[in-house]
Amino acid sequence: MANPFTLGVASGEPMPDGVVLWTRLAVNPLSSDPARPGGMPDRAVEVRWQLAEDERFTQGLRQGTVQAQQSSAHSVHVRVAGLKPGTDYFYRFRASGELSPVGRTRTADDPASARPVRFAVANCQRFEHGFYTAYRHLAAERPDVVFHVGDYIYESRQAATVVRPLGPVPGEITKLHEYRLRYARYKTDADLQAAHAAAPWVTTWDDHEVADNYRGRGDGSAAFLRRRAVAYQAYYEHQPLRVRPQGGNLQMYRRRTYGLVADFMVLDVRQHRDATTMLGAAQEEWLLSRLRTSPVRWRVLVQPLFFARRFVPGPAPNLRPDSWDGHQAERARILAANGPGLVVFSGDVHNFWAGDLKADFLDPASAAVGAEFVGSSISSRPPQTDGPAVLAANPHLKFFDGRRGYMSCVASPEELRVAFRAVDFVDRRGAPVRTVAEFLTKGNGLTSENGSSK
Ligand SMILES: [Fe+2]
Repeated sequence: MANPFTLGVASGEPMPDGVVLWTRLAVNPLSSDPARPGGMPDRAVEVRWQLAEDERFTQGLRQGTVQAQQSSAHSVHVRVAGLKPGTDYFYRFRASGELSPVGRTRTADDPASARPVRFAVANCQRFEHGFYTAYRHLAAERPDVVFHVGDYIYESRQAATVVRPLGPVPGEITKLHEYRLRYARYKTDADLQAAHAAAPWVTTWDDHEVADNYRGRGDGSAAFLRRRAVAYQAYYEHQPLRVRPQGGNLQMYRRRTYGLVADFMVLDVRQHRDATTMLGAAQEEWLLSRLRTSPVRWRVLVQPLFFARRFVPGPAPNLRPDSWDGHQAERARILAANGPGLVVFSGDVHNFWAGDLKADFLDPASAAVGAEFVGSSISSRPPQTDGPAVLAANPHLKFFDGRRGYMSCVASPEELRVAFRAVDFVDRRGAPVRTVAEFLTKGNGLTSENGSSK
């Protein structure tokens, strides 16, 4: 068999005592044969994993063997437990005589730790729109953990103008082998592989992992539910998740806590949604309860959609129904939970934004009860949004930038800092990265360190 490690390695779901290790075997990642995903043989393949405290695999070596099953497209999810908190580890796999690249991962901090947490947030990486240079720079920062807030793939048919082609199956995808192939195409990218190999990831999805702007059970048809189920299966097969899909559902909302410093509440704004609710009753109750009772300094919402009110001047609709502006009562209940140290990280809109969260967005005198930071996109093109006009129409929004990039953050007991890291171009390789703005918050609104556009 040829080298099966063409899709890289990854780790994720860090806890104080463990992580999940991931890879997927694919000797021919772009094979479009539905019966042979990744060009792999029609049988299970044995995979050996190793994890140690050093890159030469001599200190504290742990190892084991798992079977990569064809029913999971030969993906591998290894839950390693019994590790030390706040500690770097290195891991690799071996299969059919080939050795994978080495990945670096890190456990979450001890529950009593007050150590600062370094994390990055990324989103929206439409493959044919550009190169993932931003991920190359993110990887070099080696954060404690990377959050991805959705649009990891796009299900859409290939854009009219491409920087690089999707390859086989460029149409809109609806079937299991097509979702697998789309993930494989994305994951062949060396910069994306580098970002996964540099740190553990915690991911949530937005709409394009399934279908544009879908809500919950969609139109309720058997065809849509089948499509959603295969999309969720493919999502699981390509992310380092702890849990697998069951009966067409996948438990996505969850908490990842770093000591006494950061309580990351990762939301699912798609699976439980309908016209009346963004989160669904169970997820909302879980969130409100934790917001009220968390003993941790920063309550961090990690989710895709623009959270603050965003009035867009011009023709209706001036408030976007797919974002939190379409669920204002639910948003108000979250803000009214009044958890101190509330910070929201979002994506979706393909531009950088920063702003204050207000108890009443329509009252300029209303107190700031938190801050929101909206990541741009790794590669996806922005819409024709008039940044300055929207900024002017929303006093609580403080910053806009139209370049591609990611967010690089540090949470400490004293403050939370967010740097917007941008590249000037993605239509060719090699763009340098720069900090276009840096903000800090001590628990209410945000303060600009530099680069304020207002
Ligand atoms: Fe997107």
